[in-house]
Formats: sequence, structure tokens, C-alpha cells
Amino acid sequence: MIMNIAHRGASHNAPENTLAAFYKGLEMGANGLETDLRMSKDGVIVLHHDELLNRTTNGTGRLSDYTWTELQQLDAGSWFSDQYVGERLVSMDAFLYAFGNKPIHLALELKESGLEEELIYGLKRHDLIEKVTITSFDFENLQAVRQAHGSIRLGHLVRHWDENHLALLKEYGVIQLCPQADTVTLEGVHLLKQQGFEVRAWKVADDALMKHCLECGVDGMTVNFPNQLNEALQSN
Ligand code: G3P
Ligand code: CA
Repeated sequence: MIMNIAHRGASHNAPENTLAAFYKGLEMGANGLETDLRMSKDGVIVLHHDELLNRTTNGTGRLSDYTWTELQQLDAGSWFSDQYVGERLVSMDAFLYAFGNKPIHLALELKESGLEEELIYGLKRHDLIEKVTITSFDFENLQAVRQAHGSIRLGHLVRHWDENHLALLKEYGVIQLCPQADTVTLEGVHLLKQQGFEVRAWKVADDALMKHCLECGVDGMTVNFPNQLNEALQSN
């Protein structure tokens, strides 16, 4: 089954990386959730895309300068619309508690280094090591996760890739390549699959690009509009 992964939750319809957005994504037909990982000043892994709090909360400055107790006071929904006033930032622990036992894909993206040990510890606590895929644009982050755990699923997010890249990915047991959707080609997907990689496209800007990726044979996509991907899949 094609992975229909709600990007930061249903981030076009609800404030990204909040519980509201994740539940909305599943309601809209996603069979997976994508989110971003950062760490608070006191070592709690928090779901947040930006380094700064300014865009998506009523806080200011770096997330990493605040304790989890302080971060929990922030409003992470009112910037999006009045309907979501009172939404809170979400810890990875709460996310895993809410969604870890559902039959869905979970893609966790490292937005910074240094949280690998805590990540593995948290996943082990929830018995989810075998279920999640840890992704990053930064290959060094993936190497650090591999050092922290020998078999956890890894995915590399890339804007461009070439054949030379693949040997290194294999060396570190990266099983998923995540190309930017507008670089996806039939030949590229064929080669990656032949080499044993899963292919998950990201930055799927519109319906046309989504259909293009499906035609090229990707295994899945991270999308802001899981309902549209769901409809396209059902009409196939
Ligand atoms: O799924 C990949 C995607 O999340 C990467 O981009 O900036 O949304 O984290 P970004
Ligand atoms: Ca992300």
C-alpha cells in the first residue's frame, strides 16, 4: 500500500505538529504521520519544525533555550486560526503514546543533532524501535542514529541524489531515500527500487506533482493534503 504520510500532520488544515493536525491527518485518510524533532533545554524531545518559536507559537527565540515546563505554557494554535487557540506543543513521548499503537507509518525527522540517545531511549520505552523511520537531510545525523542503534529504519531526505550516493547509504543501512518530488523520475525510482531502497517523495506541491510521483512508482509521499492522495489512490 502506498504510504500517504501527513506532513507535520494535516498542515494545510490545522496548525502543524499539534495533536489537532495529526488527528486531522488521519481523519483525512493518511496512513502515516510525519513530524520534526528538536530538544528542549532540559532534554525533552519536542515536535517542532523551526529552530525559533516565533512563527508557530506565541513564544519567541530558540526552542532549545526553554525548559519543557516553559514550552508547555505556549499557545501553538492561535497563529493558525481562532479555532485552534489553546493547542500546545507536543512532546515526542506524547506523540508516541497517542499514535504509536495505531497501524500507521511514523516518520520522525531530526531537525538537530545531539538527541539521538534520548530518541532511541524514548522509542525503546514505547517498544517502537521497529516501527518508526528516522529521517534527516543531514547524513551525519543519520550516522549518529545508526551508532546509537544498529538496525533502526533510516531515511535520507535529499534535494538531489546520484548513483554515487547509494553505496554510502547502503553502508549505513539507510533503507529509504526521500527525493524532492519535482526531481522524481521514472528511471530514478526504478533504479532506487532495483537497488532495494524504498522511495518516499516530499514537497509534493500540488495534485499534478502527486500524480507524477504515483506514475513514477514511488512507495509513498509526505503530503499536506492526504485527502487528495487518498482520492487519487482510490480512483486507481
Ligand atoms: O518529509 C520531508 C519533509 O518534512 C522535509 O521538509 O522542511 O518540511 O521538514 P520540512
Ligand atoms: Ca519534516
